[in-house]
Amino acid sequence: MATSFALYGLYVTMGSCNNTTLDNKNLSLKEVPSPGGALPYFGHLFKIPSSLPALKFDEWHRQYGPLIRVKMGVEQWIVIGERRIANDILKAKGAVTSGRPYHLFLSQYHTLQQRGPVFTQPDKRWKKNRTAAQTILGTKGVDQNMYIIESEAARITKMLLEGSANNGNINITKYMQLAPLNVILRTCFGKSVTSIDDPLFLAIVETIDATVKWGAPRQDMGSFLPAFSKIFELFMGTEEHMQHYTYEVRNPLFRRLIQEAVKNDTPCFAKVMHRLKEEDEFEEDDIIVFMSDMVNAGTDPTAVTLMWAFVILSHYPNVQKKICDEVDEFITMHNRLPHYSERENFPYLISVQKECMRYRSAKHLAIPQKATQDFEYQGYIISEGAVILPNTYTLCGSTEFYDSPEEFIPERYINDLSSFSESVNASIDVRDQYTFGWGRRMCPGVHLVDVEFFNIWVHIFAASIIEPKLDKDGKFKYVDLNRCNDLGILVAPENPYLRFVKRPDCLI
Ligand code: HEM
Repeated sequence: MATSFALYGLYVTMGSCNNTTLDNKNLSLKEVPSPGGALPYFGHLFKIPSSLPALKFDEWHRQYGPLIRVKMGVEQWIVIGERRIANDILKAKGAVTSGRPYHLFLSQYHTLQQRGPVFTQPDKRWKKNRTAAQTILGTKGVDQNMYIIESEAARITKMLLEGSANNGNINITKYMQLAPLNVILRTCFGKSVTSIDDPLFLAIVETIDATVKWGAPRQDMGSFLPAFSKIFELFMGTEEHMQHYTYEVRNPLFRRLIQEAVKNDTPCFAKVMHRLKEEDEFEEDDIIVFMSDMVNAGTDPTAVTLMWAFVILSHYPNVQKKICDEVDEFITMHNRLPHYSERENFPYLISVQKECMRYRSAKHLAIPQKATQDFEYQGYIISEGAVILPNTYTLCGSTEFYDSPEEFIPERYINDLSSFSESVNASIDVRDQYTFGWGRRMCPGVHLVDVEFFNIWVHIFAASIIEPKLDKDGKFKYVDLNRCNDLGILVAPENPYLRFVKRPDCLI
C-alpha cells in the first residue's frame, strides 16, 4: 500500500510539473531553506511526528536556520524560529500574511462556512466579528466585568482547596477550565456552571475538546495529500464525525444557550448580538460560531497555561513562598486582596507568571496564518497560499535571547512590569511574550487573560500552597515537566495531579 501511495504521489507530482512554480516566476529570488529528504508529493510528511511537531521544527531550525520551508504534502509551511523574523513577516507584512489556511474541520464545519473571528479569512465579516470580540475583550469590556473575574477567582480557589481536602490528589484540568469558562459564560450568556460535574459544564467541555482535537493539522491529511482524501475518508470516516458533532452536538447546544440568554433578565453579550441580528448585521449561524469561538478561545488556552504554571510551581516551594510573602505584604497593609489595577505592587508574582509562560508554553505553534499573495522577504520568495507558523517553542527557548533558557529563572523578568497587552503591542526589542501570536490576527484576549491570571494567582497564593500529589507511601510524586500531552492545538502537562493545601498562616 505504501508503494502504491508513493507511485501515485510521483504520478501526481509529475502531472503538476507544468504549473507555474516559485522558481520560474521569480528567478532572482531564493527559496526559503528546506530540510533535505523531502519525498515527491509527500514532502516531509513522514519525517514529522504526529505528536509535538514543533520539536522536530526546532531541530531543523538548528540545522537550516530560523526560517525554514517544510513541505507538508502539497502545502508549503514556512516555519519561523526567530522573533524578529516573526515580527517582520506577520506584523510588518501583515497586509499579505493574515489569512487562515483551509482546514477541513475548521474552515468547513466549525465556522459553518467562514464565520466567526478565529478561523476565517481577514475580510469584512472577520472585521465585524473581531470588533464584536473587542467589545467584551478590550479594556473597557473587561473592566465592566471585573466583578465576574474576581468572583470566579474566589470560586476556583475555594473549589481547589475543597477538592484537595476531600479527595487528596486532584487532576486540575477541569478546575482550570471552569474558571475561565465561567467568565465567558457569565459575560456572553449571563449564566455560570457550579461544579466540574455540572452537566452543562461537561457538555461545553465536550465541544471544546472536540474543537481542539479536530482542529489539529494532523486531522486534515486530505489537505496535505488531496489525491488521497477519498481514501482517508473511506478508512477513517472523520468527516462524518465532524458533521455529526457540528450539526447534532455543537449547534443545538449553542442555539439553546443563546435562546435562553436572550430570554433571561441578566444583561449579557448574547442579547447584544441578538439585537445586531435584528438589524441584519449578523445571522443566527454567525452568532453560534462567534459564541463557540469565544468559549473555545476563552477557555482552553487559559486553562492549559494555568495548568503549566501550577505544575511548575509545585516543583518550586521557595518561589511560591516569595509570591505568598508579596501577597501577604499587600493584605497586611490594606486588609484586603488587591485589584488588578494594583498589580505594580507584585513584581515578583508577575515575573513568575511570565517565566512560567516562557518555560512551558501552552501553544508550541500559534494558529497558522496564510500568505494571501506572493511576497519577498530578505531575498526569499514566499508564495501565495504558504502556511506561516511562528514556532513559539523555539522562540521561548532561544539561546540568543535568553541566558540558560532551559532553566526556570523568574528573576529574568523582575524589572519588567509590562502587562501582556503592553508587551504584545510593544516594539520587538522589548516584547516579552510570544504565545499570543502576531500581527493582525494576534489574540484579542490578552488583557482578559492578564486580569484573570492576576486574580486567580492572588486568590490562590493568599489562601494556599501547591504541592505535588502523594504516592501510596505518602511521598511527593512530582508531575514530570518534560512529558507533554499534545492535545492538537494546545500542549498540556501529562497527568497534572496536584494538591492545594490551605496555608496555616493565611491572612484572609
Ligand atoms: C493564555 C491564554 C491565551 C493564549 C495563549 C492565546 C493565544 C492565542 C493565539 C496564539 C492566537 C492566534 C494568533 C495568531 O494567529 O497569530 C489567538 C487568537 C485568538 N484568541 Fe487567544 N489566547 C488566549 C486566551 C484568549 C482568551 C481568554 C480569549 C477570549 C475569548 C481569546 C480569544 C482569541 C480570539 C478571538 C482569537 C482569534 C483572533 C483572530 O484570528 O483575529 N484568547 N489566541
